[in-house]
Amino acid sequence: MSTETPNPGDITEPTNIVIFGASGDLTKRKLMPALIQMIDCGLLHPDSRIIGVVNNRSEQEWLELVYAGLKEFSPEVAMDAARWQRFSAMLKMVPGDLDDDATYTGLAAALETLGGRKHALFYCAIPPEWYGRTATGLHAAGLVDQTGGFRRIVIEKPFGMDLASASALNRELQRFFDESQIYRIDHYLGKESVQNLLVFRFTNSILEPLWNRNYIDHIQISAAETLGVEYRAKYYEDSGALRDMIQSHLMQVMTLVAMEPPVEFTDAAVRDEKLKVLRAVRRFQPEDAACQAMGAQYAAGTIDGEKVPAYVAEPDVSPDSATETFAAVRFYIDNWRWQGVPFILWTGKRMQQRVSEIVIRFRKIPFNLFDTHASPPVPNAMVFRLHPDEGIFLRMNAKMPGLTTDTQRMVMRAPYAKDGMDVAEAYETLLHDVLLGDATLFSRADEVEESWEIVAPLLEAWKDRFSIGRYHAGSWDVPDMDKLLQGCVGGWHKPH
Ligand code: BG6
Repeated sequence: MSTETPNPGDITEPTNIVIFGASGDLTKRKLMPALIQMIDCGLLHPDSRIIGVVNNRSEQEWLELVYAGLKEFSPEVAMDAARWQRFSAMLKMVPGDLDDDATYTGLAAALETLGGRKHALFYCAIPPEWYGRTATGLHAAGLVDQTGGFRRIVIEKPFGMDLASASALNRELQRFFDESQIYRIDHYLGKESVQNLLVFRFTNSILEPLWNRNYIDHIQISAAETLGVEYRAKYYEDSGALRDMIQSHLMQVMTLVAMEPPVEFTDAAVRDEKLKVLRAVRRFQPEDAACQAMGAQYAAGTIDGEKVPAYVAEPDVSPDSATETFAAVRFYIDNWRWQGVPFILWTGKRMQQRVSEIVIRFRKIPFNLFDTHASPPVPNAMVFRLHPDEGIFLRMNAKMPGLTTDTQRMVMRAPYAKDGMDVAEAYETLLHDVLLGDATLFSRADEVEESWEIVAPLLEAWKDRFSIGRYHAGSWDVPDMDKLLQGCVGGWHKPH
């Protein structure tokens, strides 16, 4: 995030930021580092307060925990005593159990004593099964009413595990909160490079004529990770890669790639266009699960010279688990712009490299004029690198130097951020947007339900699976990926 003086429109009003789950992992890894950074950048009003709802700890113990977390995840900030002092003065703890009404009345009383700061943001950094209970408690304690200032609730994915549970969750939250008060975080939408995609698409006139079925052969949207399931098997065993990454992050990115230009850059206009894309996605038939989607699981292997265990040998994973740690789906969008263009979304854990990209592969030239001994011209491709090394690459062909018409591949690179320039962390951008009341980068209830409806036949077909193909951790040898990309110019784009 830039440390320049913020624009007047970026300055937020004093707000009570209440974190449920304030001693948990998300708070430590993402929220506190983002908040302290926002203060340094002038993006969080100094009269704001950060209130942690914490069970079974004293305030002193909680502060020590926050400090230890910052040392681990924001060392440069925590090492500065003045900064920590400034930050810790904004922290306050409210003790209590999420299941106890007294916690919410205690919170209401604490907010009352904080006086003039009337706005409140409730961040649910807690397991999703607690969202409904928390909303009920806030409502009963009179904390949802917006008369004296805004009240917004932020939730993290998973937003349900299927269409039925997602709709139930939406209904539960909407009993107490208006949809405009609910912010569903998808941290992919907070990545600068994802926002750059929108700016790139809608500020460069040369792109629009090419951005359709007439020039594009297919599109691949990917997120390859080197990490394994880590400590999250209890969730991941039921989720798998299709729910964890494709139904959420990657389908959201797909909507941004495919949507029509909105009439204005407002949350309603952008989200309406995204929803239209989801509505146009061709529905899967049960038999499509075998040919339009594939899943696989990592076996033991080596990553960066280190041996890593198989998924089934990870803590809390069943030894006969058939959960997919790699998933790929071929979508079609049935509208004028995209008819017949495959969108292949894929993701995997324990891959060779951590890379996330949007690859636009253009059609082949109709006829090769330069029939030479060297390799033929490669089809053009435009790659948006979401991470690492955010930027845009354009693959073209050029003549080899010398007395020849042989061609060589040429890559034009445009790094997104210049060396040494800060790129905002997704959580800083998103928290700041919640404070400003800008929901453009958050998923709306109807989008979430529509995307669950799209993947439902695949989930149904996979639910009783008892065996699954394997790939070695640290490799790209995923079975059936080439089959899924059959007919696509250039086949599977393995990042490098
Ligand atoms: C999370 C998933 O939403 O995104 C994780 O639950 C995944 O399984 C993570 O590791 C990936 O995020 P990023 O930003 O590292 O690509």
